[in-house]
Amino acid sequence: MIFETHAHYDDEQFSEDRDALISSLPSQGIGRVINVGASIESTRSSLSLSETYDFVYAAIGVHPSETADLNEDSFVWLREQTAHERTVAIGEIGLDYYWDKEPEVQERQRYWFRRQLELAKESRLPVIIHSRDAAEDTMELIKDDGRDVCGVIHCYSYSPELAKEFVRLGYYIGVGGVVTFKNSKKLKETVQQIPLERILLETDCPYMAPEPFRGKRNNSAYLNYVADKIAELRGITAEEVEQVTWENAMRLFTRIK
Ligand code: NI
Repeated sequence: MIFETHAHYDDEQFSEDRDALISSLPSQGIGRVINVGASIESTRSSLSLSETYDFVYAAIGVHPSETADLNEDSFVWLREQTAHERTVAIGEIGLDYYWDKEPEVQERQRYWFRRQLELAKESRLPVIIHSRDAAEDTMELIKDDGRDVCGVIHCYSYSPELAKEFVRLGYYIGVGGVVTFKNSKKLKETVQQIPLERILLETDCPYMAPEPFRGKRNNSAYLNYVADKIAELRGITAEEVEQVTWENAMRLFTRIK
């Protein structure tokens, strides 16, 4: 069975067939799904999906590019959702300097990243981190406000060396469809150089579909292509990849039984 640690089934790309698709996942080998919030609205939708399907759980949080959503009132609401019985993580939170280049917007991203890291700490929940073109600041904030917090660097896009540093800090590395792309040399090296015990499988669907579906709508059932590629890169079986990454997710997301 595969543990899908990062999906966005609330996305409008699933409007036509959402229920049929999600309901079909267990029969396609997907045993657990974390639907990840990226805004206040999608956090609400993630919680609602987690109440509907017994194998779907929710991560609650606001993505760096959506931090205009956050103020003291919405943050109070977010804090209340940490007590929701289907909440298993704070995410996705972090820094994205690729889309947002203005200094004051980046400052706002750092402010709410810190606040959400503190929320993770006080609620003893792991974090799901989105970090793009912001390696140095992400590392700095994790070491500072993120002390005593653990989590996953989702859709990992930095060097193998930096991955090892995140692993040393207790973090997991999220690996998805990109690892099947021809030009993903750094991610392939990362997968070969960090312990399998630190890798999580994730789609980020509807985005990031693996080969041979690159560019099309992604879904959790395609994770077997990701598991196959990781197995090939490490010279082990896909079953071993599925089993170990399942155990990894169960170890990190402690509220899931
Ligand atoms: Ni995502």
